[in-house]
Amino acid sequence: MIYPIIMYGDPVLRQRAKDIDHGADMTQLIEDMFETMHNASGIGLAAPQIGKSIRLFVVDGTIIDDEPGLADFKKIFINPVIMDELGTPWEYEEGCLSIPSIREKIARMERLKMRYFDEGWNLWEEEFDGLKARIIQHEYDHIEGKMFIDYLPPLRKRLLKGKLADISKGKVETEYRISAPLKK
Ligand code: NI
Repeated sequence: MIYPIIMYGDPVLRQRAKDIDHGADMTQLIEDMFETMHNASGIGLAAPQIGKSIRLFVVDGTIIDDEPGLADFKKIFINPVIMDELGTPWEYEEGCLSIPSIREKIARMERLKMRYFDEGWNLWEEEFDGLKARIIQHEYDHIEGKMFIDYLPPLRKRLLKGKLADISKGKVETEYRISAPLKK
């Protein structure tokens, strides 16, 4: 099932998402999240973006042809915890399915160490770097109630204010179904 994607301005994107009960059957929801993400040509999707305030996100970098480093990067993260972020901050232009039409350069740390469960409730402790770390940091922020535009300098954010207001009203072009909090 393809869910509509929740737009910027919806309170669900600002909540700290709740842990999922250990052992819960996530099969259907995970399948739906991949379907929803692929339908929107996204490389990451967090549960709050489909209106569920739970600590789950999926990533799939395998659809990006020009990033060979992501060829095997299709994963599910349940109840993830970022334990450490290391290295030097680097900038990269990010976008978000919940903030369509806006792309901005954001600085994030190079590497991270995390712990998470997969769909079979196996516990993993793993390190990621580069674009993989970047995608994880972006999605992890979603389950913490954060969004990438929060990192922008105040002036830059002010310049985007009108565009963000339009997105909250659903006045934005997308190739996927959206749910906008202020749509009349
Ligand atoms: Ni996002």
